[in-house]
Amino acid sequence: MKILVLHGPNLNLLGNREPEFYGSLTLGDINTKLIELGKEFGADLKCFQSNHEGALIDMLHEAQMWADGVIFNPGGYTHTSLALRDAIIAIGIPVVEVHLSNVYAREEFRHTSMISAVCKGKIVGFGWRSYLLGLRALVDVLGDSLVGKQG
Ligand code: DQA
Repeated sequence: MKILVLHGPNLNLLGNREPEFYGSLTLGDINTKLIELGKEFGADLKCFQSNHEGALIDMLHEAQMWADGVIFNPGGYTHTSLALRDAIIAIGIPVVEVHLSNVYAREEFRHTSMISAVCKGKIVGFGWRSYLLGLRALVDVLGDSLVGKQG
């Protein structure tokens, strides 16, 4: 099983950036935890971060060639990007949306996601654990489709 973990803008600053919302782990710490959990599931993870919308779209397009699914935190682009939504529709592999903070407990503009409706599902508010929960869910869903189950 191969999975792309995609992090959007400003997530490279994790560790220092608004720790009251995003915690104190760095992006490297989170990626390490994800890769370790992936190994337990026999899943190979490739982690990528960009501050640029086009680079995130390029990674999604490439993922269609090699990945079975995607864990995606689009950062601020969550709330604005029709182009990311279109890319997710276009690639046709399951994408799990994750957010560190509980976006629904924050400003109203964070309550809207351009991508939720085209994602398999979404996990918010558990800090770095949101990513691990997202990975567990994605692996489970992919496992079902490998053995032809539905649900
Ligand atoms: C975020 C929530 C977004 O609203 C914000 O712009 C981010 C991080 C999160 O993980 O909680 O950059 O996606």
